[in-house]
Amino acid sequence: MYNRISTTEIDSLVEPARLHKRLYIDRDIFELEMERIWGQAWIFIGHESQVPNTGDYFTTNITHKVPVIMVRDKEDQVHVLHNRCAHKGAKLVENREGNVRGAFRCPYHGWSYKHDGTLIKIPNEAGYEGTGFDLNDACNNMQPLAQVESYRGFVFATLSSQAPDLKTWLGGAIDCIDNLCDRSPDGEVEVAGGVLRYEHECNWKFFLENLNDTMHPMVVHQSVVQAAKDYIDSLPESATRERSEAEIILPFGSSYENFEDSGITGFRYGHHYDGGKTSIHANYTVMPEYHSRMVASYGEEKAREIYSFNTHNTLFYPSLTIKTAVQNIRVVRPVAVDRFIVETWSFRLKGAPDEMLQRTLLYSRLVNSSAGMVGPDDLEVYRRAQEGLESSGSDWVEYHRQLGRDQQLEDRVVGGGTSDLDMRTQYKAWKEFMNGEIYR
Ligand code: FES
Ligand SMILES: [Fe+2]
Repeated sequence: MYNRISTTEIDSLVEPARLHKRLYIDRDIFELEMERIWGQAWIFIGHESQVPNTGDYFTTNITHKVPVIMVRDKEDQVHVLHNRCAHKGAKLVENREGNVRGAFRCPYHGWSYKHDGTLIKIPNEAGYEGTGFDLNDACNNMQPLAQVESYRGFVFATLSSQAPDLKTWLGGAIDCIDNLCDRSPDGEVEVAGGVLRYEHECNWKFFLENLNDTMHPMVVHQSVVQAAKDYIDSLPESATRERSEAEIILPFGSSYENFEDSGITGFRYGHHYDGGKTSIHANYTVMPEYHSRMVASYGEEKAREIYSFNTHNTLFYPSLTIKTAVQNIRVVRPVAVDRFIVETWSFRLKGAPDEMLQRTLLYSRLVNSSAGMVGPDDLEVYRRAQEGLESSGSDWVEYHRQLGRDQQLEDRVVGGGTSDLDMRTQYKAWKEFMNGEIYR
């Protein structure tokens, strides 16, 4: 059990440019976040390509204590169901992924469920005759989530029946999902190359805050950028492959001016991205073979328009972050107040040459994996922040950068790339979720 926190108390923790340290270290706040943010928002579950065939399933958690299954049925419908038996609550599926031919069978007393969650069989059913138990009562099924929707293969679900439809909730940030898919000559992407699963021993919000914190790369990643430069300088002229691989690291050393130019755009519900016209990924070479396939599909002008929408990180608050220009995503799964997991999934652009997927996988390994050269730098500073906030000294963290300079447009707020607009956007949503005002 945990202690409830009043609305007045929540209000006192989030100021326009300061956050109370309890947000990162207080177990009661974490439990309330699970109920009011993760239990109310649309949470990314997985991509439809992870369950291509009838009976394919994928399991994950929608909040720290709610396991779910994404499964494809015979009619090609993808469902997201609570991963628990209606009899005595046993978790039905322990594997991360797999295929069930006919039905899910509970490992405890053998109740069986169709792919859509309908209860179909109870062993020794005669014992229920005349007891008032109704096999056809929907409460005896695996329970569906309150709402499940998919956009261009990205499956989201929510425990809230109040949340607006998915497209409304994604708002203007939906352009980033479109851009990722449009980078495929066939207009479709699919998960490929496995997952990098990386546990972080700190609060989940450090990761979200860091995505578009453009004041940190040139400091936190300074040493690896220098090492990459030294390595490139040491290479012989002929080592073109090694050079292009090491060059993936260099943008992390971009200047404050470059990051300022990229801009940040914020939306309702906490979503935001940095970049658009330009980003640290803007100078990627467009491979000739890929370009010709894109031109064949879209025409020269449209193909160039697709590559020129260059975002760095897009956050669909609170669970999904996309790198459109790199074609990978990172999925956030909180575990405890000081523990969460990040999963990196890479995408194949259907119809694109294999080199595009290889580049994505290389990026994911170099930057996002636990054995990578960039992500572990970030984790080191999150852990130091966690340690510092758990100590005494001051109760507050600050986010004043460019306060008062954000520009409100019709459906979005825009501001400088080195501003704290991303913080203002997500903590406005945080407060609304936590006060129960988000869908009012
Ligand atoms: S708990 Fe599942 S059949 Fe009994
Ligand atoms: Fe970083």
